[in-house]
Amino acid sequence: MGKIPIAIIGATGIVGQQFMVALQNHPWFEIYRLVASERSAGKNYREALYHDGIFGWYCDEGLKEELLEMRVISMDEFKPRDVKIVFTALDSSEAKVIEPKLAEKIPVISTASSFRYFDDIPILIPGVNNEHVELIRVQREKRGWEGFITPIPNCTTTGLAITLKPLDETFGLEKVLMTSLQAVSGAGRTSGVLALDILDNVIPYIPREEEKVQRETKKILGRFTGNSIEFSDVQVSCTCIRVNVRDGHTESVFVSMKKEADVEEAKQAFRTFGKSLRELNLPSAPKEMIVVHEDPSRPQPRLDRDTYDGMATIVGRVRKDEALPNGLKYVLLSHNTKMGAAKGAVLVAELLSKFGFIEGF
Ligand SMILES: NC(=O)c1ccc[n+]([C@@H]2O[C@H](COP(=O)([O-])OP(=O)(O)OC[C@H]3O[C@@H](n4cnc5c(N)ncnc54)[C@H](OP(=O)(O)O)[C@@H]3O)[C@@H](O)[C@H]2O)c1
Repeated sequence: MGKIPIAIIGATGIVGQQFMVALQNHPWFEIYRLVASERSAGKNYREALYHDGIFGWYCDEGLKEELLEMRVISMDEFKPRDVKIVFTALDSSEAKVIEPKLAEKIPVISTASSFRYFDDIPILIPGVNNEHVELIRVQREKRGWEGFITPIPNCTTTGLAITLKPLDETFGLEKVLMTSLQAVSGAGRTSGVLALDILDNVIPYIPREEEKVQRETKKILGRFTGNSIEFSDVQVSCTCIRVNVRDGHTESVFVSMKKEADVEEAKQAFRTFGKSLRELNLPSAPKEMIVVHEDPSRPQPRLDRDTYDGMATIVGRVRKDEALPNGLKYVLLSHNTKMGAAKGAVLVAELLSKFGFIEGF
C-alpha cells in the first residue's frame, strides 16, 4: 500500500505546525499539500513562518528540509480531490465556510469548533467513543456529501473526557466540577494572548471556553443510539483560566459518583483504561492512555506533558472528596497542541482508516 496523500489547511499556525511534526514521518499518510491564508500563499513553508521578520516556528522538533521547501498555496488554488484526507487548523469563523465545501468531496478532520455541536457530527476521541464514528454515515446521507466532517474536541475537553470515561464505566458519573490552568499556546498565534498580558500573570477568563467544555463532555460521553447521540446526563461545571505556561493544560477535577468511589479502584480504572485503542495498534496511539502518578507533586507541565509524545493524559493527586456525595478529586495534565489538537486529529484519521472511512487505505 502506498501512502495516503493528505493536506493541512492552516499549516502555518500553532496547530498546523504540530500537524507537520505529527505527519512528517507518518507510516500511512504523506503531506501532499500545504494551505494557508493569502499572507502565506506562494511562499515556501520556511518563508511563510516569518511574522514581521521573526521566524515563528514553535515546536520543539525540527522539520525535514523538503517540507520547509514545500510551496504553500491558498484555498483558491487547492483542489480537494488531489488528496484523500484534509486536516484543518483554522479559526472557527474560517472553518465554518471552508470545511463544508471540502466535505462535499473528501473527509475533513477538524480542530475547529464550528461543527462540533451539530446532531449529525461526532466529536471523536479514539478509545473513548469509537462507536460514535457510525454517525458519519448518518451525516453523509443527510447532507449528500461524499466526504464528512469529524471535529476533535476543544483541547480542554480532551483530558477531562478521557479521565471521566473510566470513572463513568466503574462508578457512574453524577456531577463534575473542573478548574483549568491553560497554556498560552492554546490561544493560537493569530488571535493569541499578548505577552504583556500573560507574563507574571493569571487571566481568569477564556471567552466561550467553559460552554464548549461543558457541552462537548456530555456529547462525547453520550450513547450512540443508531442514528444520533443521546447526551450523557452528567452535570459539568467549569472555570477556565489562562496561565503563563507554554504547552499543557492542567485541570483540577472534582467528581461526584453514583456509587461509592474507592481511590485504589479509581486508580486501577485509570491505569487499565484504553483497551479498545491498544487493540487497534494505531501508529500515533500512546502505550497508555492514562498515566497515574503517586508523587503528589505531579503532574507538572514541564515534566510530564511530553509523556508518550504528548499523547497520554497524566493524572495525579487522586483522593477522596468528602464534600461531594461519593466524591473523588484529582489533577490531570493534557498536551493541548499534541493529543489536544494536531496529533490527536491524526489519531482520529488512523481510527477512521482502520474503520474503512478513508479511501485507499
Ligand atoms: N492552539 C491549540 O492548543 C488548539 C487546540 C485545539 C484546537 N485548536 C483550534 O485549532 C484551530 C487553529 O488554531 P491555531 O492555534 O493553530 O491558530 P493560529 O495559530 O492562529 O493559525 C491559524 C492558521 O489558519 C490560517 N488561515 C487563516 N485564514 C485562512 C484562510 N482563509 N485560508 C487558509 N488558511 C487560513 C493561517 O495562515 P497564515 O499563517 O497564512 O495567516 C494559519 O495557518 C482553531 O480553531 C483553534 O480553536 C487550537
